[in-house]
Amino acid sequence: LPDAQVIVVSNREPYIHNLKEDEVELVVPASGLVSALEPITRACAGTWVAYGGGSADHLTVDENDRVAVPPDDPSYMLRRVWLSDEEHAGYYLGFANEGLWPLCHIAFTRPNFRAADWETYQSVNRKFANAVVAEARNERPIVLVQDYHFALLPRMLREQLPDAIIITFWHIPWPNSEVFSICPWRERILDGLLGSSIIGFHTQFHCNNFIESVDRFLETRIEREDAAISYQGRTSLVHAYPISIEWPPAQLGKVPAVQQCRDRVRTRLGLAEGVKLCVGVERLDYTKGIVDRFRALDELFNRHPEWIGKVTVLQIAAPSRGTLPDYERLHRECERCAEEINQRYGYEGYTPVLFIAEHHTQRQVYEIYRAADVCMVTSLHDGMNLVAKEFVAARDDEQGVLILSMFAGASKELLEALIVNPFDAATMGEALQHALAMSSDEQRDRMRRMREIVRDNNVYRWAGSMLLDAARLRKRAEVEL
Ligand code: G6P
Repeated sequence: LPDAQVIVVSNREPYIHNLKEDEVELVVPASGLVSALEPITRACAGTWVAYGGGSADHLTVDENDRVAVPPDDPSYMLRRVWLSDEEHAGYYLGFANEGLWPLCHIAFTRPNFRAADWETYQSVNRKFANAVVAEARNERPIVLVQDYHFALLPRMLREQLPDAIIITFWHIPWPNSEVFSICPWRERILDGLLGSSIIGFHTQFHCNNFIESVDRFLETRIEREDAAISYQGRTSLVHAYPISIEWPPAQLGKVPAVQQCRDRVRTRLGLAEGVKLCVGVERLDYTKGIVDRFRALDELFNRHPEWIGKVTVLQIAAPSRGTLPDYERLHRECERCAEEINQRYGYEGYTPVLFIAEHHTQRQVYEIYRAADVCMVTSLHDGMNLVAKEFVAARDDEQGVLILSMFAGASKELLEALIVNPFDAATMGEALQHALAMSSDEQRDRMRRMREIVRDNNVYRWAGSMLLDAARLRKRAEVEL
């Protein structure tokens, strides 16, 4: 596909400009999607179409709503799409995050589907389709459609750009067909996605669930061996492409040596000599198992009281979707649980749980990864989870232990992590004990193998294999013509 124009479309933009005390401040959002797609878009000098949600976003674009990014070394164009408050409420908060997000994750949060949100979701998908078409320089661009905000976009694009290669990547799990049937517009969602040339998921399991949903709700021909779905005269491939991060991560060149990171972070947190540091890094989201992680510490103290006073869990949680009731509730629950544990086990000079619900820069996050003895990724359900891979990439000293949920896609690749069931507090407590007591040699063995995997299966490989499949598909279509 030489010289083809690459257009990425996602809800979240890679760079947000905000107004802070009359100054324009640049924020890189906490989003696995953004960490993965940013290096790819840079590498192919593409165009990225996204919602401009920052308070200074309007001030930084040209007359075509474009801004060249990254700001310090521009290599691609960010085209911003503006949404009214109503559009944002109905499409993003409502249909995407109160409907599809809980529908696709096993976190036992009830999805809410409202007809008015669905209307807005359709019109906003249309708005983004128009923006992508406006950005297309010819009729055969490669459009990389990202995530559950845009299930209808592939079909809308296909109608306007019949010869485009449309690769849609669903960054979150896909539920089984019984759960999926909860969505009142299930056929329309599937029809929308089947406008894609390729539909990608992180795991084969999610692909199977998707194919099963299509089989149940649409009239199609499914070639299971090739994972190809023929529908309305076109074929879509459904494949697993486990997403990843750039290797080596750009941040690694910017942070100090491990020992310096340790000193800095530990001094900042006021950790006493000998206290081990476990970290959790995520958005404040109910799928991430943050409270379950705190309970694991409680369980550790119950079973192995010798650890009281010797381990602190630092949880940083970037505020996310904070106006939704489920997210507000989660925030309070995390605070309450941390407080309880601190009251029970803490004392002057020792705080078992530090819960910091604030946005951190990528640099700060990498410093924390490098300062940690243990990183806990205990999602109740997660597409891939790039924190697990970032932690591994950050540890060029080959030390540190990763505790990883069996319900995160990353657990299929990072087999040397301590794999846990986040719903099982007792086992989580034991995993913490195992991690804290692990010898440096064992840490090195495990970390080395995990680093090889993340290095080899990096995000360029992820994008490369999708593009290769797309090229094969185009060839096949040409041969069949
Ligand atoms: C998940 C989703 C992404 C989203 C990110 C951050 O990783 O799959 O699409 O960008 O969360 O959430 P937010 O709602 O803040 O963009």
